[in-house]
Amino acid sequence: MKRARYIVVLLLVLFWSFAQGADKAQFSMTEAMSHLRQLSVAVGSRPAGTKGELEAADYIAEQFAKFGYTVERQSFEFPYFEDRGTSLVALDTQTEGLVAYALIYSSPGDIEGELVYVGLGRDEDFEGAQVAGKIALMERGTLTFQNKVANAAARGAKGAVVYNNAQGIVRGTLQELGSIPAVIIDRPSGEKLRDRLSSGPLKVRLVVKSVSERRTSYNVVARWPGAEGHRAIVGGHYDSVAEGPGANDNASGVAVVLELARTSAHTEVGRQTLFVAFGAEELGLFGSRHFAGGLDRSQVEAISAMINLDMVGVGDRMIAGGDAKITELARRFGLEVGQNVVVNSQPGGSDHVPFARRGLRVLFLTRPDDPNYHTARDTFDDIQPKLLELAGQIAELVLKHLIMVGDEALLYGWSGKGSLGVLSAEVLSLDIGLPDIGLI
Ligand code: BES
Ligand code: ZN
Repeated sequence: MKRARYIVVLLLVLFWSFAQGADKAQFSMTEAMSHLRQLSVAVGSRPAGTKGELEAADYIAEQFAKFGYTVERQSFEFPYFEDRGTSLVALDTQTEGLVAYALIYSSPGDIEGELVYVGLGRDEDFEGAQVAGKIALMERGTLTFQNKVANAAARGAKGAVVYNNAQGIVRGTLQELGSIPAVIIDRPSGEKLRDRLSSGPLKVRLVVKSVSERRTSYNVVARWPGAEGHRAIVGGHYDSVAEGPGANDNASGVAVVLELARTSAHTEVGRQTLFVAFGAEELGLFGSRHFAGGLDRSQVEAISAMINLDMVGVGDRMIAGGDAKITELARRFGLEVGQNVVVNSQPGGSDHVPFARRGLRVLFLTRPDDPNYHTARDTFDDIQPKLLELAGQIAELVLKHLIMVGDEALLYGWSGKGSLGVLSAEVLSLDIGLPDIGLI
């Protein structure tokens, strides 16, 4: 009898210490903020292919390793681009206030030539126009920037100027290294130049001081030692734009990924999840495209979902984009942690896209209303720690659910947080299943 009581007490103590241990591995805002500070303050701006990006990769790799994961740096090449000064001036007309931006991947150059207006830059727009040795002026729209500029170059144009068809300026991209200098200007400037051409030839000087070359970037991938057959991917990009330190975009997402890796270490979730910090997102999702492209068929079949965290530290609204069932899970878990999550099936451009294209279910967690998006003002001071915690809690609950579904641990072990246990039982009835695979 005494012995039985002893065993009961021992079990209680064991259970209690287990519960304490479980508590320790809960998502910590302080830890997440410390990663965020390191990435956005100590390292600062992290454009792909620069020292900042490499330093960030080192820090992330170090952290994953510290939590016990095996870390791989997956290298890939991408077209690097940097604008070191761009201008367009008309040589015999008033062009004060004319502001030109290099199209991304514009070739560098310092050229003078006659400007020729060729409409939208479609094949038919060049009929009867002589652009060889001249600079093509085109309106934005219908064709991609790439196609317009390539069409002009194919007809011998030595430069291209595209004017916007809407208000302001967009930083258009040629998607790959171009062969002639190409810039974008705003609509009023473009219309002024076009009108000026109707009264006779106009010579302009176009200067693009760009660095456009192939460089190397890295995805930092963490897996639990010896684990195989991963069932989820959790990631976010760690590069930033050149304009600022990218605290929200996207040191915030990476901080949450790192903290999720820590809380998942030594657990079944950690064993079955690949944690990935993607490089070179801002220039066109190069890291995630490389990673998703490298998954083999059996990996694609085994993985239930990819969760992407991008911009989760600023703004009132939280959006869950992607697969209908997983976004619904995120919405329900959001309610549990006090965050209203708006489901949007058409989320914007970020690292989940290449995974969705490979037929994986994706969940994109983001806060779309950051007034300092892609500016020098996207700084550490703007980040609300509580928002990192909310994103972390929602992502963690979805992840646990995906991995542990059907597992006893989900029903009985996942308690201690009010109704979460009840909710998890309730959402079990949602048919998450395995992905319907539409391979490539
Ligand atoms: N973090 C953004 C995506 C984003 C933008 C999320 C606004 C929430 C609100 C991402 O880094 C980005 O800038 N993406 C590009 C597209 C990408 C393919 C280069 C974009 O949205 O323009
Ligand atoms: Zn981003």
